Amino acid sequence: MSQKNIAVVVGSIRKESFNRQFAEALVKQLPANMKATFVRIDDLPLYDQDDDSNPAPQVTRLRDEIKAADGVLFVTPEYNRSMPGVLKNAIDHASRPWGKSVWNGKPAAVCGVSVGAIGTALAQQHLRNVIAYLNMPTLGAPEMFIQWKEGLVENGAIGPASKDFVQKFVDDFAAWVNKLSA
Ligand code: FNR
Repeated sequence: MSQKNIAVVVGSIRKESFNRQFAEALVKQLPANMKATFVRIDDLPLYDQDDDSNPAPQVTRLRDEIKAADGVLFVTPEYNRSMPGVLKNAIDHASRPWGKSVWNGKPAAVCGVSVGAIGTALAQQHLRNVIAYLNMPTLGAPEMFIQWKEGLVENGAIGPASKDFVQKFVDDFAAWVNKLSA
């Protein structure tokens, strides 16, 4: 099976982000034919349509990384019942100029970690609306709404209580990417 590149977009830019810790542990469970590239979004300017014809180098980098991806995994916190602005900003950047969106057709999956009991369910639903509009075929199930708990990530790996659950999500996402990016 050919080598596949998964762009991982984490919706939190704080240093100790639970989502980043979770994402870094999750990608260790990807199959051997898949390599994860963490996409940087913390240094992007605020999206301004006036800059479409003269994008900042960070925007070009983001666009190139998404272009090079066979699949995209979004791992997002929930801020006030939606996705964080930094994530929406990155999505908007790579969706433009009009007709040149690099998200177009990329198979995707969404998941997320929050401290609250609903585990980013509403943020994920908002994100699904956005990426559906951007024509990203997105894994419908399993859904993964994670509440941060002691032991979720241990020594950089998913802890024993959640390992199998995460593996099922990863395996289904990998099959989704293999099918749609063939
Ligand atoms: C939050 N948090 C939060 N949690 C949740 O379950 N639902 C929500 O709507 C919100 N809203 C919210 C708004 C803002 C501005 C902040 C800063 C936080 C709490 C959130 O789950 C918690 O801060 C996580 O730790 C954020 O993810 P990272 O940064 O650890 O990946």
